[in-house]
Amino acid sequence: MSNFKYKRNQLYCEAVPLKQIAESAGTPVYIYSYQSLVGRYKELKQAFASAHPLICFSVKANSNLTICKVLSEQGAGLDIVSGGELYRAKKIKVDPKKIVFAGAGKTEEEIREAIKAKILLINAESEQEVEEIDRIAGELGRKIRVGLRINPDVPGGGHRYIQTAKEENKFGISLKEAKELFLKKEKFSHLNICGIHFHLGSQITTPQPFVRALKKIVPLIQELKKKGVEISYLDIGGGFFGVANKFARAILPLVKGLEINPVRSKSRFMGTAPAEHQGTSNGVKLILEPGRFLTAESGILLTKVLYIKKREEGKRFIIVDAGMNDFIRPALYNAYHEVIPVVRKPLNPQPSTLSDVVGPVCESGDFFAKDRNLPLLKSGDFLAVMESGAYGFVMASNYNSRPRPAEILVKEDKFYLIRERERYRDLIRGELTMEGSPP
Ligand code: LLP
Repeated sequence: MSNFKYKRNQLYCEAVPLKQIAESAGTPVYIYSYQSLVGRYKELKQAFASAHPLICFSVKANSNLTICKVLSEQGAGLDIVSGGELYRAKKIKVDPKKIVFAGAGKTEEEIREAIKAKILLINAESEQEVEEIDRIAGELGRKIRVGLRINPDVPGGGHRYIQTAKEENKFGISLKEAKELFLKKEKFSHLNICGIHFHLGSQITTPQPFVRALKKIVPLIQELKKKGVEISYLDIGGGFFGVANKFARAILPLVKGLEINPVRSKSRFMGTAPAEHQGTSNGVKLILEPGRFLTAESGILLTKVLYIKKREEGKRFIIVDAGMNDFIRPALYNAYHEVIPVVRKPLNPQPSTLSDVVGPVCESGDFFAKDRNLPLLKSGDFLAVMESGAYGFVMASNYNSRPRPAEILVKEDKFYLIRERERYRDLIRGELTMEGSPP
């Protein structure tokens, strides 16, 4: 249930009117609801309760430390894809045994840091990467757990840029290659290759792609077991969006036969069973990597109307103070986000007109909404760009030398600044003259 709701024609986040935040923190500003974040986490946990999965929040969706911490306090682990995300995880002291690391191009430094941090699983995406991890682990004198990311060649997800599990995509290895690697896993003496990972894409709204992928992968796990190769972790990635139960109902029966074994796995996650558990497993731990599911609906982008421009044929451009640099999804993926006024007129129906909501950036791709029926607005009114809590701030840039927005977390009737608005001096931090001094 959304925690962004109208009360007496004013849009609220929990018990705080958004207008109040806009007036105190300025705009553009990202606003998140604590209740929504925790509520979504609990919904997912409950839906999959019978399998006791490890839920690793996909940091890339919203990497604000406070957001990650709220989820971690609920019991979530983290799914990371870079040294920078590992740095964030360490900053908030997430249990390393709840961290999984994916990514098609991990650098030597990133692999070394992940090994030293003793994370749960490095999910490798090629044989060459497996060799590299083995070499680095050897250098460090460690034995570590590795998963293989399989590309099951299954379509799924929204825009083609966010589909990741077709053969033509760069991610993972084929089932055949994975099987070969598992069968020669003893060759990699510093690794325990004991996990299978896949991630199908983002904005997947039906369980069908998961069903198709699992129907390919579960038989592989069973076949490997017969050949003496135990899989201890099945990481089915993220990408699911919508009602958690719908996914759980379709996914859980398919993995049941794998003896999903929460008891053994639990002790492992308490940190008591490090690398030495290898080869002794008799069940599979399920891992989920939700990003969008947990944070998208938990956040909005609040922006202020600067100008209204009317075209002769009646269409209006509503020019706002947020731009594509602050929120790029509409420009990049042609993504649809609802845009609604923060204060509604007390009229029913609301008089409206066809409008484009656009930003100040010097590109025609700089829009949030096109050809929408929006109420008659005026300069100084506030608008909320909905479902912006995932892939919002994290994809913001300083394009056009625009400082990035502030971030606010609302909990009940209080709100907290969880990231300061950037200042002009932040824009030039690190820049140097040709003499090597700050300009
Ligand atoms: N696990 C892996 C390995 C991933 O690559 C991703 C997302 C996730 C989990 C989380 O996916 P989610 O549950 O959030 O859908 N910028 C795009 C989304 C890119 C997603 C990349 N990988 C967007 O704005 O829609």
